[in-house]
Amino acid sequence: MHAWLCENPVGAEALTWKELPTPAPQSGEVLVEIKAASLNFPDLLIVQNKYQMKPALPFVPGSEFAGVVQAVGDGVQHLRPGQRIACLSGTGGFGTHVVVNARACVPLTDGFTMVDAAAFIMTYATSHHALVDRAGLRSGETVLVLGAAGGVGTAAIQIAKTVGAKVIAAASTDDKCALCKTLGADHTINYSIQNLRETLKALTGGNGPDVVCDPVGGDFAEPAFRSIAWRGRYLVVGFAAGPIPALPWNLALLKGASIVGVFWGDYARREPASNVAMMAELAQWYGEGKIKPVINATMPMSELKAAYAHMGTRGVKGKLVMVN
Ligand SMILES: NC(=O)c1ccc[n+]([C@@H]2O[C@H](COP(=O)([O-])OP(=O)(O)OC[C@H]3O[C@@H](n4cnc5c(N)ncnc54)[C@H](OP(=O)(O)O)[C@@H]3O)[C@@H](O)[C@H]2O)c1
Repeated sequence: MHAWLCENPVGAEALTWKELPTPAPQSGEVLVEIKAASLNFPDLLIVQNKYQMKPALPFVPGSEFAGVVQAVGDGVQHLRPGQRIACLSGTGGFGTHVVVNARACVPLTDGFTMVDAAAFIMTYATSHHALVDRAGLRSGETVLVLGAAGGVGTAAIQIAKTVGAKVIAAASTDDKCALCKTLGADHTINYSIQNLRETLKALTGGNGPDVVCDPVGGDFAEPAFRSIAWRGRYLVVGFAAGPIPALPWNLALLKGASIVGVFWGDYARREPASNVAMMAELAQWYGEGKIKPVINATMPMSELKAAYAHMGTRGVKGKLVMVN
């Protein structure tokens, strides 16, 4: 097997493509031939030693992939060789093969393409948990999605439309805003050139959005919170911009509003039955054509460093998927 190895966590440029011994699955594990693996923002952070999870060195990055089971270890009941699966493993995806815990693998239905499956779990699970579970988003409410053309953002637009909400998508370029429109966003705001607060006021008749989905943080968090509606819910999803915003607490008092933390990974660990039900609903919506990953591009696995550079410079619209 071959894989991109991180021996020195100083960024993607230090990754090396190496031949490694193909491991045999131990009890409870499976060996998977990787067909497609998508980039998620944590993949950028983990190779810089900036992610909350710090794997022992050396490690193979790649949080999420889809592939075909090659061999199963003792005690694995729900998977067999030849089966197509998707997996969110945290690491190991950017290679040709990987051994993972069988419980992290989800068998794929026939309709799921490998590319879509590799780009599905993290972003859709995060956005569904955020909007539906944490915010209790209701049909007819208005949601503002920041960083709306990113992986989490595009999933959030589709999920919010599926539950019947009105979507205001905010992003940094006209191209990104145009993509959000094609996904069903009712309005867009290019926050590089439009004033966020003034535009939100105009688009919502002065009320502001009921829910703000924020995977970006940085400079737009405070103006977005200041714009929120009475009883609004502000979803703290991530900090792609870098700085972690701080808010004066009186703003929450004045709007009767809530600041709501979103940590899908821990939700899945702590509330597994609810997470399984949520994933089943997402798979059903995919089958019904209500949601579908936005694939910016598929690239050969050999071009991983270029894919990392594209994501790190805010160039990606939707998801980048590496294929073998
Ligand atoms: N809480 C959870 O459970 C959870 C789960 C998964 C991911 N996350 C987090 O969610 C965030 C988004 O992840 P993603 O996979 O959707 O990433 P992504 O596809 O790269 O999207 C992030 C968006 O953030 C905006 N952005 C603003 N400043 C940026 C900068 N300096 N560098 C990069 N992007 C910047 C960009 O939109 P514009 O150019 O339009 O501003 C970009 O489209 C990340 O912080 C990630 O860690 C959280």
